[in-house]
Amino acid sequence: EILVFDNIPSLRSWRQQCIKQDKQVAFIPTMGSLHEGHLSLGKRRYVKQGSQHCPIVVVSIFVNPAQFAPNEDLDKYPRTLSNDLELLRSLDCVDAVFLPKVEEIYPYGIPLDVEKQKGAFVEVRDKSHQMEGKSRPLFFRGVSTVVTKLFNIVQPNCVFFGQKDAQQCIVIRTLISDLHFPIEMHVGTTGREYDGLAMSSRNKYLTPDQRNYATTLFKGLSAIKNEFDQGEKNREILLNKGYELIEKVTKEVMEKNLGFELKLDYLSLVDPRTLEELQEIEEEKGAILSGALYVGKTRVIDNLLLNCT
Ligand code: PAJ
Repeated sequence: EILVFDNIPSLRSWRQQCIKQDKQVAFIPTMGSLHEGHLSLGKRRYVKQGSQHCPIVVVSIFVNPAQFAPNEDLDKYPRTLSNDLELLRSLDCVDAVFLPKVEEIYPYGIPLDVEKQKGAFVEVRDKSHQMEGKSRPLFFRGVSTVVTKLFNIVQPNCVFFGQKDAQQCIVIRTLISDLHFPIEMHVGTTGREYDGLAMSSRNKYLTPDQRNYATTLFKGLSAIKNEFDQGEKNREILLNKGYELIEKVTKEVMEKNLGFELKLDYLSLVDPRTLEELQEIEEEKGAILSGALYVGKTRVIDNLLLNCT
């Protein structure tokens, strides 16, 4: 039986009980529309591996308006609550689900015009403007703010995030350490479909033709990683492998007249600590290779780690 809390006071009083009983809590924040990638973060086996001390697992489902830009998909972001609850029940290891309302998390609302936004926001400076943050300037401010609020409400002992969102993991790790949250963070590997496409709630937007070509980014990143594994360490040479592959497929889609386009947003090769773009990969430091590709209107993101964790 899963406990469902739809407001802060009820979640808090239950959490107090756990503290009294000296039970540690593991927390997995999500925006719902759950898939295997999310679920792998919640599996008891994994939670156990990560920390022997979190017998209680809490999942939150909250589509966070503060992390969507005005031109993004907040309104049509898939919401599949009853299915999500069904999936969580079938996992048989989730104790509670937290479903807060926007008005409770953001009492002043989140006006699209940033200048009009009121109240407290959290910024992780120095880690939020590169890569994804370059294409989505206020995205990590929104993520950092909601995650801070959720951490304060749920008071987890350990939290689980997915490698799928590599920069998000780095932002949250920095947030935990800089704001002195007594929280242990664990990162789960990226769950993929049979053909390598990283699982994502947004994959639901893809038409069958688009779905066929949605693996293009993963293929480009894989071609680069392959080159790296064979000893190449130079940025231009490595990235060109990816650009070439993606360009070739982009042309193919255009020639076939499928009614949509592939458009590469960016490829990035950064130092895993500073997120600075690298000219040359040093064997000891490794790199994060990441990118974003528009498949029609859907933005597909993915990343691979080159010799780092
Ligand atoms: P969401 O995209 O729903 O993802 C919730 C968690 O699941 C994140 O930690 C994400 O990295 C992880 N995840 C998503 N797809 C995955 C995959 N294919 N394999 C492994 N893990 C995957 O990320 C968010 O929500 C939001 O930004 C949030 C942190 C909840 C703040 O609003």
